Amino acid sequence: MRYSLSRLRDDYRQWCQQQDSQVSQVALLYASAYGNTATVASAIAQGLVEAGVAVKSINCESTDPAELAQIIEASDGFIIGSPTLAGHAPVQVQTALGIILSSADNTKLAGVFGSYGWSGEAIDLIEQKLRDNRYRFGFEPIRVRFTPDADMLQTCQTAGTEFAQQLRKQQATRQSVTEVQAGRTEQAVGRIVGSICVLTTRQGNRRSGTLSTWVSQATFSPPGVMISIDSNQAAEAAIELDTPFVLNLLQEGRTVRRHFDYRSHAGDEPFAQVKHRHADNGCFILEDALAYLECEGQNTIDCGDHQLIYAVVSSGDVLETTGVTAVQHRKSGSQY
Ligand SMILES: Cc1cc2nc3c(=O)[nH]c(=O)nc-3n(C[C@H](O)[C@H](O)[C@H](O)COP(=O)(O)O)c2cc1C
Repeated sequence: MRYSLSRLRDDYRQWCQQQDSQVSQVALLYASAYGNTATVASAIAQGLVEAGVAVKSINCESTDPAELAQIIEASDGFIIGSPTLAGHAPVQVQTALGIILSSADNTKLAGVFGSYGWSGEAIDLIEQKLRDNRYRFGFEPIRVRFTPDADMLQTCQTAGTEFAQQLRKQQATRQSVTEVQAGRTEQAVGRIVGSICVLTTRQGNRRSGTLSTWVSQATFSPPGVMISIDSNQAAEAAIELDTPFVLNLLQEGRTVRRHFDYRSHAGDEPFAQVKHRHADNGCFILEDALAYLECEGQNTIDCGDHQLIYAVVSSGDVLETTGVTAVQHRKSGSQY
């Protein structure tokens, strides 16, 4: 200490930072009248830290219950240790146990240990309460008679490592369940279908065509539609109040759509390859479309990564009376 104080301080600061950046945290709560339970706690903590888990070591005798509750809440698991004194756990341990039972959900991994002389009621009581409340244990309860010897300390350290491994397993399972659920939600969203359309616009002499499958009728009176387009494409289409455009509803069995898929044909001139004519509003009608609607933008809303356009239909026609509307079926709601 005398010669290496600053070095020790630096090492300690670094160790603290590592502890804070660890993924999992365990609250290690104990009380100890003569130091034996505290020694067991240190050995368990060593095993946890060596296995890469951060430990919040708390002496219940000197910690405020509110702080205790916060630490338990922020931890992925807890381990509680107690001496047995006159057949009981010290009051501070009983308070800590009360906080756990009332606030920590039983998905948090649990552990119990303690030092005793002849009967060890405190350890049994804590174990039983946790079992009654269906907590899972990261190691079997550790009972140490009086002062732990070297072998016992090694056992405690191993128990700490075992606890860390159990914690990792539990978290990996929880994560994969969440991922599977996210996948199922995506699949469910993907069951929404939309008709495949090409939205044609004009800005001066410049004409552009945007493929969209997120189209739906929005109102009867006036006849209105809503279209959701990717924010990047929305900038290209530049539809605002009064902007005219044509919504070309494509028909099944034609290959028109591939000319307007911006991912594979960015920079190409699609109208050079697709038969078209002018609508009354000056935008292009694709002659291979099933039907078309001349529209005027009324409203746009920026929603997340898309822009939602509401437009009123001024006129339209069916070009192929026996054709079937092309519909986009998807496996996942995370892509078009
Ligand atoms: C006043 C007193 C009462 C005790 N009562 C019990 C008891 O009822 N049952 C038991 O198993 N051990 C009892 N013990 C033994 C302690 O549990 C044992 O010394 C233990 O190692 C203390 O742990 P600590 O050093 O963490 O305080 C008692 C010890 C003292 C000093």
